[in-house]
Amino acid sequence: MVTMVVAMGDSNEIGFNNQLLWHLPKDLKHFKEITSGHPVIMGRKTFESIGKPLPNRTNIIVSGKKDWFEEGILIVGSIKEAVKFAKKIDEEVFIIGGGKIYEQTMQIADRIEVTRVNGSFEADTFFPEIDGKVWAKTDESCFEADEKHAHSFCFQTFEKIKTEDL
Ligand SMILES: NC(=O)c1ccc[n+]([C@@H]2O[C@H](COP(=O)([O-])OP(=O)(O)OC[C@H]3O[C@@H](n4cnc5c(N)ncnc54)[C@H](OP(=O)(O)O)[C@@H]3O)[C@@H](O)[C@H]2O)c1
Repeated sequence: MVTMVVAMGDSNEIGFNNQLLWHLPKDLKHFKEITSGHPVIMGRKTFESIGKPLPNRTNIIVSGKKDWFEEGILIVGSIKEAVKFAKKIDEEVFIIGGGKIYEQTMQIADRIEVTRVNGSFEADTFFPEIDGKVWAKTDESCFEADEKHAHSFCFQTFEKIKTEDL
C-alpha cells in the first residue's frame, strides 16, 4: 500500500519558502503515528526543510544531484527507485512530499491521508486536485481551533476507487 500524507489549506496550499504554513501539534502527532516504523519517501527540498532524518523511519530522499551524502538517509535518483527500495523494506510505504513529489506520485498512490486545515494561506507550493472520480473519502474526523491550534482542521482518508468497483 502506497499512502500519501499531506496537510493542506482551502486551496490545496502546502508550503511557502520551503516551510509549512501552520504549526498544529495534533497534526504532527498524527503524522508521527501513521508513518512511524515505515519507510518515508520525500523530495530533497522537503528533507532540507525538515533539516534532519525523521526517527524510526527509513528516510528515502529523491534527488537528481550527484555525489552528496548525509548520515541516516538513503538518497535515490528517481521516484521509481525510491518506491522499489521502500517496498523491499515494508509493505506500507509513505510519500510525504513536497509538491514536486506529490505531482509525480498521485498515479501510483492507493490512499491519501489529508489534514485539511481550514483557512487560506500565502503559498508557493500546492497539492494536486483530488479528483472525485478517482478518489473516495472513506473517513473524516474534525477538530476545533484551541489555544494550541490557531486553525480548525480535519483528518480525512481518501482511497483510490478500484476500477472493479465501478
Ligand atoms: N503541508 C505538507 O503536508 C507538506 C509536506 C511536505 C512538504 N511540504 C512543503 O513543500 C515544499 C517543498 O516542496 P517542493 O515541491 O518545493 O520540493 P520537493 O518535492 O520536496 O523536492 C523537490 C526536489 O526533489 C527532487 N526530485 C523531484 N522529482 C524528482 C525526480 N523525478 N527525479 C529526481 N529528483 C527529483 C529534486 O531534487 P534536486 O534538486 O536535488 O535534484 C527536486 O528539486 C516546502 O514548502 C515544504 O514545507 C508541505
